[in-house]
Amino acid sequence: MAKIIVVTSGKGGVGKTTSSAAIGTGLALAGHKTVIVDFDIGLRNLDLIMGCERRVVYDFVNVINGEANLKQTLIKDKRVDNLFILPASQTRDKDALTKEGVERVLNELAQDFDFILCDSPAGIESGAMMALYFADEAVVVTNPEVSSVRDSDRIIGMLSSKSRRAEQGLEGIKEHLLLTRYNPERVQKGEMLSVEDVKEILAIELIGVIPESQAVLNASNSGQPVIMDKDSDAGQAYLDTVQRLLGEKVPLRFLTVEKKGFIKRIFGG
Ligand SMILES: Nc1ncnc2c1ncn2[C@@H]1O[C@H](COP(=O)(O)OP(=O)(O)O)[C@@H](O)[C@H]1O
Ligand SMILES: [Mg+2]
Repeated sequence: MAKIIVVTSGKGGVGKTTSSAAIGTGLALAGHKTVIVDFDIGLRNLDLIMGCERRVVYDFVNVINGEANLKQTLIKDKRVDNLFILPASQTRDKDALTKEGVERVLNELAQDFDFILCDSPAGIESGAMMALYFADEAVVVTNPEVSSVRDSDRIIGMLSSKSRRAEQGLEGIKEHLLLTRYNPERVQKGEMLSVEDVKEILAIELIGVIPESQAVLNASNSGQPVIMDKDSDAGQAYLDTVQRLLGEKVPLRFLTVEKKGFIKRIFGG
């Protein structure tokens, strides 16, 4: 049976799509058949970050409306075995996702996949609710700043009250905190919240800390998930995160200000 994981946040622009692409790719690299589903109807960012935007023919809404089947619509990644994308539609209205439709598609995917990763839109309206409703686990993407933490707190409330698991009285969604765009220098200066601050406020288990990194921008410009850039700090931090999601104990990295050596001071890095 597939595990459904929602990547959510409340706030926009915190790194949900970046994280969905990286974590989905990481799970597939670890040998698990994985599909990343873009719930962000109208924006369609995931296929850009995955570098498959030119291969989109049909989309999630087409499948829900019965205009195409999953086989026609899923895009198989060309680099990584076991990895598929279900793209969002660009033009339709945001209410095109119905609970019954989403459930039908997820059930069909669940027969074939180990992991279904749901990339949520921002906000707490219907699109975001739809992305989290059927989840077994949630990755709550949060930036170390007050507004992001506040929105994550609201989403954590939604996870425990507005999900199928909550409505059916099942064991709650397993929640993981993923702190992204972490900049130790700015934390040291007191301009950003620290890992400990955020952990204390949100009080859910920390699954990873992703540093603020130029590698993320490079990756999205080249349509290659940052986790495939194995030499980069952000890529390594996502690799660690995926291992933790799979139950391994991996120490946190990239939490402190790196003292730059002579070579790095001159050549950057
Ligand atoms: N760790 C990071 N370091 C630097 N930039 C990042 C990082 N994570 C995300 N970004 C940037 O932040 C912006 C929003 O990311 P995105 O994943 O689209 O967020 P969301 O899906 O939550 O709206 C993008 O420009 C992305 O490149
Ligand atoms: Mg997004």
